[in-house]
Amino acid sequence: MSILVTGADGYLGWPTSIRIASRTNERVVLVDNFGRRDWVEEVGAVSATPVADIDTRLDAAEEALGLTNLSFVEGDLTDRAFVNELLQVHEPHTIVHAAAQPSAPYSQINGERANYTQENNMAATRNLVWGLHEHDLSDTHFIETTTTGVYGAPEFPIPEGGATMENGGERDEVPFPAMAGSWYHLSKSHDAANLRLANKQFGIPVSDVRTAIVYGAETDETARDDRLATRFDFDYYFGVVAHRFAAQAVAGYPITVYGRGEQRKPFVALEDAVEGLAQLALGDPDDRPDDVTVYNQVTRAISIVEIGTTIADVAGEFDLGTEVEHFENPREEDETHQMEIENDRYADLIGGQSVSFEDGIRNVLETLVENADTIRAHEDRFLPGVLEDRLADEAN
Ligand SMILES: NC(=O)c1ccc[n+]([C@@H]2O[C@H](COP(=O)([O-])OP(=O)(O)OC[C@H]3O[C@@H](n4cnc5c(N)ncnc54)[C@H](O)[C@@H]3O)[C@@H](O)[C@H]2O)c1
Repeated sequence: MSILVTGADGYLGWPTSIRIASRTNERVVLVDNFGRRDWVEEVGAVSATPVADIDTRLDAAEEALGLTNLSFVEGDLTDRAFVNELLQVHEPHTIVHAAAQPSAPYSQINGERANYTQENNMAATRNLVWGLHEHDLSDTHFIETTTTGVYGAPEFPIPEGGATMENGGERDEVPFPAMAGSWYHLSKSHDAANLRLANKQFGIPVSDVRTAIVYGAETDETARDDRLATRFDFDYYFGVVAHRFAAQAVAGYPITVYGRGEQRKPFVALEDAVEGLAQLALGDPDDRPDDVTVYNQVTRAISIVEIGTTIADVAGEFDLGTEVEHFENPREEDETHQMEIENDRYADLIGGQSVSFEDGIRNVLETLVENADTIRAHEDRFLPGVLEDRLADEAN
């Protein structure tokens, strides 16, 4: 028996893998196909932090953290035969499924990438749950990082899970409708629905962890050795908004807020995201619910403009003079939406947020200042267009 972490070479998957392995003697099996490394290269970008190859990471985990219980398997989860063999050989009692193509802008580039994103993400999840069913592993706890993006931006406070529907004088609790706003986010809405079906048909216990925008450059474990660093992308396609703004500040650029930027988005620090996944993966099997439990993996909703001004303020401590500038919004969105999102279940799981947004940003800037040359060498990647221009050239 083992614990399986998919997407284990990724931003979230790698620090989650080493935290779980640090707290158990059980074998932790890591899986990835290195797709993320290829996609970032495809858009001409690079991680600000140097990302060691997987063998170097595993050596460093042993040397710096004493971990001898990690194994890595390279493979593509959309390949059913690969997934079946993986499950048969390792018989996981818990899976943390963090493998996906996670970029909304990348999924929006063209139909080919929309197809790729949905096919990749949904096939991987289907193969895993069907594989568990077909190999008599339906007791395996299936934990997936879906996304808070499945909720869209409703006017009412977002519940942690289902919603109450009233019709014809009757009320019932129903799964929250898929109101996602990108082809990527909708792949996760479909995953959430498929997980509910897998629980109903196969009895697989599911934790549907609706991950907010994750920010942060390190965790307790990754900070112990440079070779353990997780990736930190800052380009238009793969850099989440707080990472892009922080990198802009380090490169001496103004922070670009699209439109008014008063809309609030849900955030969670990398440290707090990793901790929740580890708590779930290592929880006592006897306490495990046998149904679908939804966690809103979020610690705060913050407006885009507040993110920009916080980063600009903290950047001042590093002698980085930067200002917030407003640009025309290329996205169709409500620039004043005041998102409220319930998170009691997730807050209980991790015992409350471990770091304030301001302190988290301070830590991000410390890391980025050390890698300022890499950011400056790719500063044209803050904006969209590089890949689109190349695709247009290829088409002509
Ligand atoms: N980072 C965030 O802000 C955020 C927010 C919401 C949800 N999430 C979700 O959390 C998870 C992890 O996100 P991340 O930011 O670490 O992204 P990431 O791209 O860094 O990690 C995903 C990993 O999965 C791997 N992968 C993708 N498809 C695969 C396949 N078919 N077979 C094997 N490996 C495959 C990639 O190579 C990558 O290493 C994803 O499910 C993502 O949708 C992340």
